[in-house]
Amino acid sequence: MSGNMRSEGISYGEGYSRFLQDKMRQLEETNLLLRDRLEKIEQESRYYQEMQVRYEREIKRLRSELEKLRTPPMLVGTVVNVIDSKRLVVRSSTGPQYVVTYARQYVEPSELVPGARVALNQESLAVVSVLPSARDPSVCGMEVIESPDVDYSMIGGLAEQIEEIREVVELPLTAPERFERVGVEPPRGVLLIGPPGTGKTLLAKAVAKRTSATFIRVVGSELVQKYIGEGARMVRELFAMAKEKAPSILFIDEIDAIATRRMDDGSSGEREVQRTLMQLLAEIDGFDPRGNVRIIGATNRPDILDPALLRPGRFDRIIEIPIPDKEARAEIFRIHTARLKLKRDVDLAKLAELTENATGADIKAIVTEAGMLTVKANKRAVGMEEFEHAIKKVMVNGHRGYMMSLKDMSAMFR
Ligand SMILES: Nc1ncnc2c1ncn2[C@@H]1O[C@H](COP(=O)(O)OP(=O)(O)OP(=O)(O)O)[C@@H](O)[C@H]1O
Ligand SMILES: [Mg+2]
Repeated sequence: MSGNMRSEGISYGEGYSRFLQDKMRQLEETNLLLRDRLEKIEQESRYYQEMQVRYEREIKRLRSELEKLRTPPMLVGTVVNVIDSKRLVVRSSTGPQYVVTYARQYVEPSELVPGARVALNQESLAVVSVLPSARDPSVCGMEVIESPDVDYSMIGGLAEQIEEIREVVELPLTAPERFERVGVEPPRGVLLIGPPGTGKTLLAKAVAKRTSATFIRVVGSELVQKYIGEGARMVRELFAMAKEKAPSILFIDEIDAIATRRMDDGSSGEREVQRTLMQLLAEIDGFDPRGNVRIIGATNRPDILDPALLRPGRFDRIIEIPIPDKEARAEIFRIHTARLKLKRDVDLAKLAELTENATGADIKAIVTEAGMLTVKANKRAVGMEEFEHAIKKVMVNGHRGYMMSLKDMSAMFR
């Protein structure tokens, strides 16, 4: 072949150039292929780089999370005084006061005002953040219900009491001019007393609904705090909040927790509870009875209340919530069975007859239990049979010879 090429120059040249052209085409194709592949590889590389960035970010996040888990808990303190732009005095929740600095990158200096609640680093006690004000209801266990979902129609058998509470709580809020005209001061506080489960809390909520006032509910035991002065501070803040959100109804449920008769047993816990009570009395004395804040207290232990609380000008109207009589019980049965599918044989008057001494809460429990029995037996509607079972179950479980009669209760106030 090579000899042939050398002897015939032209054909040699033609063949060679064809060969070269072929070769070039081949190379170009290969080049294209390679370029394709390169592009793909570059794409992949970009993808992996992205992934890397993402994973690095994830690592960073997890690291910082770990760090957070490792940081020691912070102390809670209150700013007492700001000395200068670098130092301030804080009182730690354990009592003593300290001069401390604060972390500029986390804390806005303008938020550091006396009385602000702050978080302190455990070692240096430097302020690391400013906490939301204790007046924020979630912080100190108050419950603010803008408009509760209980209506007078959901309360059975307390028509007289409803009338009375409307007179002394609702009227001063809705028609204050009537009191002004006559020149009489409406009672400042109303105390609801009665055995457990008779509808005291229910009644207070219903009033709030009707007046469209802000309803602030606090349970007495939440005002009993461990540290000196904390309970009194909470009472102060409670009243400040009630004024801020006026018109409002401040409802102190289970008020006996802070208002037990003062007995000096000398324990510091006892003294702290008393300090809280004194603050409560001072706050009640301090506000304008014609203003648009009403106080309602409720307790099922009126026998242990401090008489100072019942003095005129404080809780000077007492509303007794009795155990429901037969008619009231039928009414309460009607309310609680309203949404239930009942068989024809169900006779509410008969049920009321069968449930002597039952409270509203008992009746609610009976209705629920009867419903449960019906579901368990896979029946379509609740019948008398289920109710009778439920009555046996609830009334035996809960009962209960300790209940004093209302006569005994009211006798205690004389
Ligand atoms: N008169 C009533 N009418 C309708 N339901 C009632 C009545 N009394 C009580 N109940 C039912 O019982 C439940 C408990 O009542 P409530 O919380 O008002 O009792 P209480 O008097 O505040 O008791 P305690 O002294 O234990 O706080 C209510 O949610 C309601 O379902
Ligand atoms: Mg209650």
